[in-house]
Amino acid sequence: MQTILITGASRGIGLELSRTYTAAGFRVIATVRDVPMAKDILPFAELIELEVTEPASVAKLQAQMQGETIDVLINNAGIIGPDLQSTTDMDFDGFLKTLEVNTVAPLRIVQALLPALKRAKQPKLATVSSKMGSLSYAASDQVAYRASKSAANKVIQCLSTDLKSAGIAVASLHPGWVRTNMGGAGADIAVTESAMGIKAVMDKLTLATTGRFWNYDGSELGW
Ligand SMILES: NC(=O)c1ccc[n+]([C@@H]2O[C@H](COP(=O)([O-])OP(=O)(O)OC[C@H]3O[C@@H](n4cnc5c(N)ncnc54)[C@H](OP(=O)(O)O)[C@@H]3O)[C@@H](O)[C@H]2O)c1
Repeated sequence: MQTILITGASRGIGLELSRTYTAAGFRVIATVRDVPMAKDILPFAELIELEVTEPASVAKLQAQMQGETIDVLINNAGIIGPDLQSTTDMDFDGFLKTLEVNTVAPLRIVQALLPALKRAKQPKLATVSSKMGSLSYAASDQVAYRASKSAANKVIQCLSTDLKSAGIAVASLHPGWVRTNMGGAGADIAVTESAMGIKAVMDKLTLATTGRFWNYDGSELGW
């Protein structure tokens, strides 16, 4: 049985990914910030408490994963950022928080889980990024979010280079515009479509295709 670890599994895309991988026969380790609250919605998963921005929380996760094997890691936890995030009116503390959650935390988690990933036969990891971070797309709203996802993409690209020799395949993922708390009720697609698409992309991911940015529908995106 393969094992997947998914961060930010309490709701939205992370919750649906947990359901999708469970249905596919995976052992699902789902990280949430509030384990007692999540027990009812994720009874099928192994729950681990994780505040992704807290180094001590990540260190605890690392200790819990000692000796374990992780076949797939999906860094999904993310935030849209502060209310004020334009180039002319920026909540700078909120900007820093957005970078902490969306950019810094995924790398900290990858570093913490590398020993567990290295035990897998064909390990894979991904960060759920966003097309909003594409450098070729010049829209300028939600600057903190866009910048955090651009930087998350760069971190993923660097990881793909550095982890190739360890046999770990790496991807950045755009989940679509999804009807979640973050995406809103008017978004394009349901979480089920996004999660199934992400799983199909991850299923196909190999070392030959490492270091790329994928849409949930399997098409490749420009950085
Ligand atoms: N929805 C979209 O249209 C869309 C489009 C492009 C990219 N994305 C990306 O997809 C990912 C999931 O988004 P979503 O739409 O499912 O969002 P969501 O419904 O708002 O869920 C976000 C998840 O991240 C967790 N989280 C946030 N901050 C955290 C922290 N500091 N530590 C631990 N967990 C934290 C939340 O946990 P709590 O319940 O504890 O707050 C929740 O489980 C994000 O990375 C987002 O940027 C979404």
